[in-house]
Amino acid sequence: MLDPRDLHRQPDHRIFAGLDIGTSKIGVVIGQLSEDDKLCILGVGMSPSKGLRQGVVINLDQAVQSIDRAVQEAQLTAGVKVQDFVVGIAGDHIRSINSRGVVAVAGKDKEIDQSDVDRVLEAARAINLPPDRELLHVLPQEFIVDNQGGIKNPIGISGVRLEAEVHIVTGAVTSANNILRSVSKAGYHVSQLVLEPIASHYAVLDENEKELGVALIDLGGGTTDIALFHEGVIRNTAVIGLGSQNVTNDIALGLRTPIEQAEMIKCRYGSCLAPESRDDDTFMVPGIGGREPREVSRTLLTSIIQPRMEEIFSLAAKEIKRSEYGEKLGAGIVLTGGGALLKNAAELAEEIFGVPVKVGAPHVLQGLIESASSPVFSTGVGLVLYGIEHENDEQLRVAGRKGGFLKTFFNSLRSVAEDFFQG
Ligand SMILES: Nc1ncnc2c1ncn2[C@@H]1O[C@H](COP(=O)(O)OP(=O)(O)OP(=O)(O)O)[C@@H](O)[C@H]1O
Ligand SMILES: [Mg+2]
Repeated sequence: MLDPRDLHRQPDHRIFAGLDIGTSKIGVVIGQLSEDDKLCILGVGMSPSKGLRQGVVINLDQAVQSIDRAVQEAQLTAGVKVQDFVVGIAGDHIRSINSRGVVAVAGKDKEIDQSDVDRVLEAARAINLPPDRELLHVLPQEFIVDNQGGIKNPIGISGVRLEAEVHIVTGAVTSANNILRSVSKAGYHVSQLVLEPIASHYAVLDENEKELGVALIDLGGGTTDIALFHEGVIRNTAVIGLGSQNVTNDIALGLRTPIEQAEMIKCRYGSCLAPESRDDDTFMVPGIGGREPREVSRTLLTSIIQPRMEEIFSLAAKEIKRSEYGEKLGAGIVLTGGGALLKNAAELAEEIFGVPVKVGAPHVLQGLIESASSPVFSTGVGLVLYGIEHENDEQLRVAGRKGGFLKTFFNSLRSVAEDFFQG
């Protein structure tokens, strides 16, 4: 096995870093690609997420400090300094739609070439965006040549009419700006801004699942992010503004105990399903403001947790059903994010979704395997993998800031399309 300490001493090191600005924690993952293109996790860092609410920056100074703390910790474990980060974005300001573009084939002898593909992708992303929203991703799904659908790579095919179906993700300009500003104020650079569930899927899903049809549900602290895949490509994304912190708040209110205690009780005794009678023991709950501690049964705790988890899963089920691909989940549902660690989360989800559900964590094979293999780090590891896959992309949002938007936009589309064709 590779030893991370040897790896980064190699002269031609290729370091990639992901910065997951979550609502509960800021997670940083630093990885390195070996000569045979294997990812080794060199460092991870985590700090409580201060100054953010539901993925949106509400206090810049606190957000900057939290980011810096997590980055410092990851750099210390990795023994390398990192400047550029692939950064995740989520929050209920995220919207996504599927769009379609159509062009006449202009290539020689009506043979489709790269410029036809560029034009049709440009036509597909030409949606009316209000000034307060901006494009984050334009992801090709399939091409249609003279009504023949399901084509992944149309280049070289002859036809008159070329259509493209794409999945478009947009975000609020102010939210994206605040994330860029926080990272930059902490002294780092954002190389790409990536929708979190798009990043997470790189760490958690395998090709077979994506081909058969799968919904990835990232149950975080403040948001629940959904990404739907079918026939190997992303079909839909959605963000719900509820997460596992809502469960903690319910426990704090229901048991009249401070948030920190409620969080501990959730992780230690919490479950989404009523305990078997033999497990129905009790635990002590400290009171607020000098009140006496009380004895509480697990059954009572479950009666607080279960309705909130049911609500979150039901909202996710509604989002999934809205998509035509909701009926095509051959590989079921993969739950990830810290909220997926709650006992019996997959079992309750199975009852609500009516399809097989499993908890997914990053497939980390080398380096800090134990630290990075938790569902809490799915987005962080996914951001590193996204950075590797899209190393040469100038992502839309960041490219736009540097000027030369249109040129880089086309480069970006082309590179996304090339990626898609290879997949
Ligand atoms: N062992 C555990 N059991 C139950 N819940 C857990 C456990 N570990 C973490 N959690 C919960 O997971 C949540 C944090 O998950 P995660 O780190 O994925 O969120 P985040 O990425 O910060 O948030 P978001 O994705 O919403 O921005 C917290 O609410 C925490 O209570
Ligand atoms: Mg998260």
